[in-house]
Formats: sequence, C-alpha cells, structure tokens
Amino acid sequence: MNTGSTAPPIDDYILGVDDAELHRLGLQHRIWSRHAMDAWERIGVGPGQTVLDIGCGPGFATIDLAMMAGPGGKVIAVDGSENFIQHLQARARLEGLENIDARIGDAQKLDLAPGSVDRAWARWVLCFVENPEAVVAGTAKALKPGGAFAVFDYFNYTAVTLAPRSEIFTRIVQATAKSWTDSGGDPDLAGRLPAMMAAHGLEVRAIRPIVRTARPGSLLWRWPESFFLNWTPKLVAKGVITQDEHNAFHEEWAKRSKDPNSFLCTPPVLEVIGFKPGA
Ligand SMILES: C[S@@+](CC[C@H](N)C(=O)[O-])C[C@H]1O[C@@H](n2cnc3c(N)ncnc32)[C@H](O)[C@@H]1O
Repeated sequence: MNTGSTAPPIDDYILGVDDAELHRLGLQHRIWSRHAMDAWERIGVGPGQTVLDIGCGPGFATIDLAMMAGPGGKVIAVDGSENFIQHLQARARLEGLENIDARIGDAQKLDLAPGSVDRAWARWVLCFVENPEAVVAGTAKALKPGGAFAVFDYFNYTAVTLAPRSEIFTRIVQATAKSWTDSGGDPDLAGRLPAMMAAHGLEVRAIRPIVRTARPGSLLWRWPESFFLNWTPKLVAKGVITQDEHNAFHEEWAKRSKDPNSFLCTPPVLEVIGFKPGA
C-alpha cells in the first residue's frame, strides 16, 4: 500500500472530519453499498484495473473497489482529510490489501497522468466542492479511452420529506441547504453534471434517479437519523438555527421514530455515468 500524502489536508469540509462523521459514513456506506455495487457493475469495474475513488472519505467504498480490482489492479483514493486517509490506511492493513494508493489531496487539483485510469467513482463529493467542474475535468483527463466515470450525487436535495409533512423538519432541511450553499457547495449539483461531463469529452450514457422510502425501525431510517443527530448541533453552532429549533426537531424526530405510519422520502440522488470515447 502506498501511503503517500501529497498535499496539506483540507479542513473546511462542511460536515466535518471528526470520528462521529467517520462512523456515520461507515453506516451510510452499508446502507448504500447495494446501489454502489450496481453502478460499479454497470461501468464494469473489474480485476486488473486502476480505479480512482475521488473524495473517498474513510475509504469504505475504496476497500470494496480494491477487492474488485484485485492484486493485479489498484485504487487511487484521494481525500482532503488526514483523519479519513489514516483510517483508510489502517483498514487496508487490517484487510491485507496492498493495492490502495491513499492520498491526502484536493479533488479539484487531481494530478494524475493523462490516460492512466480505467474507472472513476465519486459519491457525495462534487456537491461539497466550490469548483466541481475542475474535478470532472481532472477525472476526464486521467481516464483512458474507453474508461468510465460514475457519480452519485444530489439533485433537488430539499425534496427530502418527512411524511406526514412536518414544519420543523422542512425548516431544518432549508437551513441545511442554505448553509451548504453559503459554504460554496451545491445541493442541486447533479443537475449540472451531464453538461460538465459533456464539456470535458465524456459521453453521458446514464442519468438515473434513486429515491428510497425509510420507515421507522428500518436500517434506512438510521441514515437520516445519524445525519441529523450529527449535523443539527453544528447548525446551532453556526448560528443558522436556534437551540429551540434544534430541540423541537429532536422532539419531533423522536415522536416520528415511534410512529409506524411515518416515513421519509430520501433526498434524490442521481447516478450519472460518463464514458470516454475511444479504445
Ligand atoms: C459525504 S463524504 C463522502 C465520502 C465517500 N465518497 C463516501 O461515499 O463514503 C464527502 C467527502 O469529500 C471530502 N472532500 C470534500 N471536499 C474535498 C476536496 N476539495 N478534495 C478532496 N476531498 C474532499 C471530504 O473530506 C469527505 O470525505
């Protein structure tokens, strides 16, 4: 395993890079791994390939991709967080995986040899960076002819709904989207992605929405729960919501968690797949 850390860490990722966020990302990967696996099959991730995991976080998907690439292939995993990259390196050692090149770096400044990557993957990263087009440009350049780039990202994030509707839930979602936009991100990012891919020479072959319904008591219900438990105190600290709104939200969430007739429609995720012509 290459442990090369090529750049200073990026500390301003809006959701934070602490251990609570790291554990949330682990739960999130388990809940979404079936969908990721489908996408990887569609783009043909396989043995012997060089796979790029952009904004890999603690590397929960990276580990799966490294197993798919096998000893004859490798995963280049890039993230801005030192804590997350160190976690990935420790996990790789534990799993006996020697084909992961984990790097601290800025996804907007990918510095990879042109035509050196077979497959690329970015999940919930482009919506957080100020210049997503730079990520797409760097990835398109790094792909080999015939290579593919699969992205999972949000479109129309504020469509996430607690049913029956809840005023305080809607308020927290609007505050989330605002603070995200204020920090340079885009809760609607995936809507701009096909144009960005096309501008950098990728042929967009799929745009597929994924919306799921979470019911109290299910594993999927724990996805929004773990997000909001971690996130709403940060919204209070940022001055975006009041402590009273935070408390009202948590009361409402606790009540809904015991109501079998409540459900939540997840924020729409778009799977966008672009291929580089040639080969
Ligand atoms: C929601 S997490 C997703 C992590 C991972 N892709 C996954 O699906 O589990 C977003 C990740 O993007 C990383 N990130 C944000 N801005 C970045 C940047 N400019 N360059 C590299 N990584 C960045 C964060 O550190 C974080 O790990």
